[in-house]
Amino acid sequence: MKIFSLENSFKRYWDLFIFILATYCSIDIPFWILFPYPQTGFFFFFEIFISIAFFVDLIFNFRTSYFKNEILITDPLSIAKNYLFSWFLLDLLSVIPLELFIEYGIIPKSLMFICIFRFLRIIKLTDGVLFKRTWGMHEFDSTSFMRLGFLVYWITIFAHWTACGWIVIDGGVGGVSNPDTVTRYIRAIYWSVTTLTTIGYGDITPVSNAQTIYTMCIMLVGAGAYGYLVANIATILANSDIVRTQFVDKIQKINTFMKYKKLPSDMQKNILDYYDYIWKNRKGYDENQILRELPPSLRMKVSIYLNSDLVRKVPILKNASDDLISKIIVNLVPVVYMKGDFIFRKGDTGHNLYFISKGQVEILAEDGITSYGILNEGNFFGEIALIMDTPRTASIRAMDYCDLYYLDKDTFMSIILHYPEFAAHIDKLIKERETHNKSFSFKKTDSKTEVPLRKNRKPKSL
Ligand code: CMP
Repeated sequence: MKIFSLENSFKRYWDLFIFILATYCSIDIPFWILFPYPQTGFFFFFEIFISIAFFVDLIFNFRTSYFKNEILITDPLSIAKNYLFSWFLLDLLSVIPLELFIEYGIIPKSLMFICIFRFLRIIKLTDGVLFKRTWGMHEFDSTSFMRLGFLVYWITIFAHWTACGWIVIDGGVGGVSNPDTVTRYIRAIYWSVTTLTTIGYGDITPVSNAQTIYTMCIMLVGAGAYGYLVANIATILANSDIVRTQFVDKIQKINTFMKYKKLPSDMQKNILDYYDYIWKNRKGYDENQILRELPPSLRMKVSIYLNSDLVRKVPILKNASDDLISKIIVNLVPVVYMKGDFIFRKGDTGHNLYFISKGQVEILAEDGITSYGILNEGNFFGEIALIMDTPRTASIRAMDYCDLYYLDKDTFMSIILHYPEFAAHIDKLIKERETHNKSFSFKKTDSKTEVPLRKNRKPKSL
């Protein structure tokens, strides 16, 4: 028989099935001890069925790998040893159909309580670490949800057990004369819920010493569990949209700062517009910070995936080799410019090459009025100053919100050195752009004139 991994999908559902059977036992057995009903017909066969299922589970457990100090142990001998010294005895006892043994007089009725062995395995099945491993969850995956789920499960089971305990010491009367079984149970569960949640209406109160002590114990457990439950719900609600909450928090701080510094209202509006754009387009995430924390190999894969859209938009990258694409993409840094912002001005020293992911920029001559043209999505600019080692030959101004990615000069120059074909493309393009601009100085044109690299007008050389 093969060794099951914890995440084996058959084993997962098998564990779930066993969990349901164990839960049934944990509810049924205390009830049966209080109000014994005949274990005949369906109940007889169902008890046998549970025993068979628990037995099969016992066999499976000898063939299920486990983790020791974060190392997966798959050696059958180690698995068997680990199981024999942990849950084996309890699992073996739960295989015995104890209710039937009591029903048919094999075990005396006075030993009825040993039937609890039948369901103690739920402790193992609700082990959070094991549960996460089985369902392939990571350490912080929905931790609060899982904790809350188990807590609600345990409080429900515990409420049932304490209700059964109350029936034993209260005699099940709970202020009702001649109650039937259902009424006795409902009254007891009502007492148990009101005591566990520390609401305690006081309509069912302890009279004897035993009842008083029992009530106090349940209250102590209940106060702790109830507090834990409320805290978990609060955590879930607080975390439900943590990114938004953090972003709103940041905006509130900025707002307070702007008011404190008495920034002009249109400046305040611009700042808030910018954050609005950042939220709508990036949901407040700092892509670069997330990438920086990843190991290099993973960072490369994630960057390529995240920027696949940009690669598709930029003609010069579309036909480039994978190696070149990854060299560029891994070094790209996102940056946003607002309408009217100068990305740089003519005569500035060039530090970066820019790719346009979203938006449009205008290329302006020195006078700031003459437009050489417009560049939009998929185009790039800023290569002339880097390659020629000259000041910027034109100013670039954002025409609306612009999502750009920039590549620093050193990286760009090393790419130019190592990829001659790419360098040749760029060289050709520079010549085209320079020629275009020169012709411009002779004929003043409308500012919306198109230039060789406009979208959908891929130069033949690229
Ligand atoms: P650089 O000189 O570094 O800075 C200004 C940039 O504008 C320049 O590099 C080019 O990338 C870009 N540019 C200048 N003229 C044109 C043009 N005619 N068409 C497209 N881009 C241009």
